[in-house]
Amino acid sequence: MNDSLALHAKRKQLSAAVEVFETLLAQNRANSHTYAIMINACVQCSNVAKAESVFEEMKRSKMASVQALTSMCRGLASSADTIDRAAFVLYAARELKPSVELNVRSFNTYLRGCLMHGRVNAAVDAFRSMKKTWGVSPDGSSSQYVISLLSNALRIREARVVSQQHGAPEAVNLVSICKGAALSCNFAEFDRMSKLAGKCIVKEKEAATKTSGMQVREHGAGKTQDAKGGKRAWKCTDSQRARAANLFAAHRLTELESELASMRSWRGRVGSVEEARRAVVSALARVLVFSRCGENKDREEVMKSLRATLAESFGLAHFCKEHNEEVGVVHTHNRALDENSSKINFSSFLFRQSCKAVKLEICSGEGEWAAYQASADAPGVLWATLELRQNRVHQTFSRMVFGDVDNLVAIGGDARHVLAQRIPLNSVDRIFINHPEPPQQTSSSQHSSEAAHLLDVPFFESMASVLATGGTIAITSDNRWYSEMLVHIAAQVASRAGLECVHLADLPVRCEHRGIKLYVGVPGEACGAPAKGGSSYFDRLFKSGLAKNASCVERYMICLSKSGTC
Ligand SMILES: C[S@@+](CC[C@H](N)C(=O)[O-])C[C@H]1O[C@@H](n2cnc3c(N)ncnc32)[C@H](O)[C@@H]1O
Repeated sequence: MNDSLALHAKRKQLSAAVEVFETLLAQNRANSHTYAIMINACVQCSNVAKAESVFEEMKRSKMASVQALTSMCRGLASSADTIDRAAFVLYAARELKPSVELNVRSFNTYLRGCLMHGRVNAAVDAFRSMKKTWGVSPDGSSSQYVISLLSNALRIREARVVSQQHGAPEAVNLVSICKGAALSCNFAEFDRMSKLAGKCIVKEKEAATKTSGMQVREHGAGKTQDAKGGKRAWKCTDSQRARAANLFAAHRLTELESELASMRSWRGRVGSVEEARRAVVSALARVLVFSRCGENKDREEVMKSLRATLAESFGLAHFCKEHNEEVGVVHTHNRALDENSSKINFSSFLFRQSCKAVKLEICSGEGEWAAYQASADAPGVLWATLELRQNRVHQTFSRMVFGDVDNLVAIGGDARHVLAQRIPLNSVDRIFINHPEPPQQTSSSQHSSEAAHLLDVPFFESMASVLATGGTIAITSDNRWYSEMLVHIAAQVASRAGLECVHLADLPVRCEHRGIKLYVGVPGEACGAPAKGGSSYFDRLFKSGLAKNASCVERYMICLSKSGTC
């Protein structure tokens, strides 16, 4: 029955998984695997509260395992509101019955959470305790997470030490350190690291091309003949897997190469350290991270938490010490939140211009698409990105600096809370969501999923409430099954929320449900995107064919407008 539980977990069928789990409990047949699989099922379906209650039950039954603990840690580390509890679970491993010894996967799960939520100090503590307290050697991923966090916090000396102490230099780490050096305006360090990073990228690219060539030859040498089973089939699967890993590595390296090129070009353009510093301060003042959004805080607390986040994770503390710049950043932030409502005052970011329109990209990832559109838009149009993962907000911030994008604001936090608590009603003219995360990649149930996902009915209502009358929402995805599900959700909520389908005569229609159309195409002028040809990390990834359920070619789009009558 554990197998059937695992299958339900894989398919994200939480209610069926709960049923099997309860039967096993009632029959006294639950073992440590049962608990581990059940906790994983809850986490996969984003039901962390249920996972915690199963974890408590596991503790009472004295059936702890490192797998269960790691899944619990993953669930808790997925949100800024609960990541502190993940640390608690991790460090109490030896108190469980039977006592659990942590492994590198448990630590990496927690460190990945720290990276997502910008917990630099907590990550450094965990990284130090791995070897010392738990006898676990950090691997390449552990160092990568910590180096990225330290570099983003502009603690580049420490980042360099971690990089030197843990294996051969890796391009991803060297590029992180370059970014930290550039944003600290430490150009001597940047020039040195940028040379090393460039060489490392070339070396790693050559290695990736060589291995993927070998894999192609091996794969082409007839190993698919016995694909149904046996050792040969395993070899074939391994070879395909290795080839995909190499293609992915090549994709990552191309991305790193272009990131390094944009830093070098900025370095070449800025005339002096003074000018560079002004650019960094101006962009830092346009970063608004609302961590722990689940707690509804008053304005003073929000500001305090924002400053603490920028100090710890974006290097504001370090930058102020070196350049004495805190005043300018704090002053802009003070004007950014309304005195009474504590909501964002978008027009405060366009200093001497009147604000003609506000355009918001939700789930913006590293902010590339929004930055590209913002640079091409008319004067007086303010763009904003909204992203959950702080490391991606940081990428957006650095893109603002290195790309000289001064009409873009990077907002961090859970879109559910940020829309409800920080965005004024009727204040946004255009909303875009490109490649939102589906609850699952595909499913036999046509237009529903048991797993939690962002774009549910309440979220559509929330988007409608912040949208100005006549404003539009454009949602673009590579996943057809998910896009059709979104058409059904939009149809359910449209008339209640005052939303209607925008008719785009030049785009083919893939399907339609109660007047809501699924177009094949990407947002253009009619949806408020002025520039053609914008791309993003995930867009390129899906086009490369690496994701199994994503279309390499077609993009599916829903476009709705707010009529104001509901
Ligand atoms: C598949 S990625 C697409 C990113 C980007 N639009 C692109 O095309 O590269 C989806 C993004 O949505 C973000 N996300 C997921 N849930 C979110 C939430 N509740 N609030 C804000 N962002 C969220 C994820 O962190 C991730 O960066």
